[in-house]
Amino acid sequence: MKKIAVLLYFSMAASVVLWGAGSQGGAESSVLPVPPLLEGEKLRLVMQEGTLTLPMGTSKTMGFNGDYLGPTIRVSNGDQVDIEVQNTLKEDSTVHWHGLHVPAEYDGGPHQIVEAGSTWNPKFTIDQKAATLWYHPHLLGKTAEHVYNGMAGLFYIEDDYSKSLPIPQEYGIDDFPLVLQDRRLDKNGEFAYNPGGRDIMAGYTGNIILVNGAYEPYLDLKKGTYRFRVINGSNSSIFRVRFSDERNFTVIASDGGFLPESAEASELIMSPGERYEILVDFTTQGTLSLVTDIYGGDSFKSLDFNILKEEGTYYPHPESFEYTPVVYDESVNIKRNFRMETRGMGGFTINGKSMDMNRIDFTLDKNNTEIWTIENVGMGMMNIPHSFHVHDVQFSVISVNGREPDPLYSGPKDTVLVMPGDKIKIALRFEDYTGIYMYHCHFLEHEDSGMMGQFLIE
Ligand code: C2O
Ligand code: CU
Ligand code: CU
Repeated sequence: MKKIAVLLYFSMAASVVLWGAGSQGGAESSVLPVPPLLEGEKLRLVMQEGTLTLPMGTSKTMGFNGDYLGPTIRVSNGDQVDIEVQNTLKEDSTVHWHGLHVPAEYDGGPHQIVEAGSTWNPKFTIDQKAATLWYHPHLLGKTAEHVYNGMAGLFYIEDDYSKSLPIPQEYGIDDFPLVLQDRRLDKNGEFAYNPGGRDIMAGYTGNIILVNGAYEPYLDLKKGTYRFRVINGSNSSIFRVRFSDERNFTVIASDGGFLPESAEASELIMSPGERYEILVDFTTQGTLSLVTDIYGGDSFKSLDFNILKEEGTYYPHPESFEYTPVVYDESVNIKRNFRMETRGMGGFTINGKSMDMNRIDFTLDKNNTEIWTIENVGMGMMNIPHSFHVHDVQFSVISVNGREPDPLYSGPKDTVLVMPGDKIKIALRFEDYTGIYMYHCHFLEHEDSGMMGQFLIE
């Protein structure tokens, strides 16, 4: 097992690390909601308006098959999936399958608009390893608002290997999704999306954290080993996720599936859209919390664990997992560079260009492996972190600032954090499908402000 001594990202970042202190006061608390599972050959997602009532007020929301967030879709590798997406909103949207390897026409990006009142019916075969993926709208210029309002859900892929592993796998029993989101409550205790210029630049940072759509919920658990699938579901906040007692836990998977070697850690640094799966042993009776610190913002007790006297089940933490990296050859593979730049208020570019639906930024060949170098060069007055997400593939991180990546970046990834001054090299292999896919900063305010491009696979 690898031990992570120093946090690579923040030790190398040019900017000063700003973690806030202080926690929110307690309100009456509710048990952690677990999104319902959605399984089978025919799946149905209804995009709908709703409301979310928190102890402080009631907000207008949007969700899938409910008021806020959506069901957890669970499928197995090889399954044929047929999803009916019905848009009952008063406005257009899309549904993108983040991290899934699917035909371009069913990717759900800005080209696959599901008009208000209409239905979209993507069909595809699952062709990738077990992973914790997710889905969310991706309408040009509207992604941030739709996700903020609550439209997001998890998409689990399982396979024979994952099912055979001696790790917790009972959904909502010993294997829990934790969708972490910050939301900004106004004086009426409601959250609504209306970012100002600074919010676009620095992120629409919240003043509360929701876990699976609940405020400071709790979980009563027997002693034993638990698996948590953690997702940063925020618009544009970098989270540091840890336990209140600073305990260590075992990280077993990143965005696209299991890590080659599990890693011991005491905190997770997660940019929007990134996922980790962790194993934690609760061995003593008592209460502890999951703490979420927002980079440049406050620190929040976000979920309480009440560990009961009863003994549950303990599992050993696997040391390593099956993992197939992207095989690359620097002397042969095509190389591309992506310069992410912040150009004053609201100006975000990749290679000097802002997203244009009518422009294909580059074309690549199917069955090619490529090496991409991503650089955050926009320093300006503020050091603005970015991230880089690619549709269609899970990639391997070759290096971060010339060095071997952190153990948490050694497995399958689809989104990486790119701090100011960082240079990240990744290897990607494009197979099976042709068509148009996106790459972009996954800070949704940046994405909506043009920090996105598109490539065509031929
Ligand atoms: Cu999670 Cu292009 O998105
Ligand atoms: Cu995506
Ligand atoms: Cu960005």
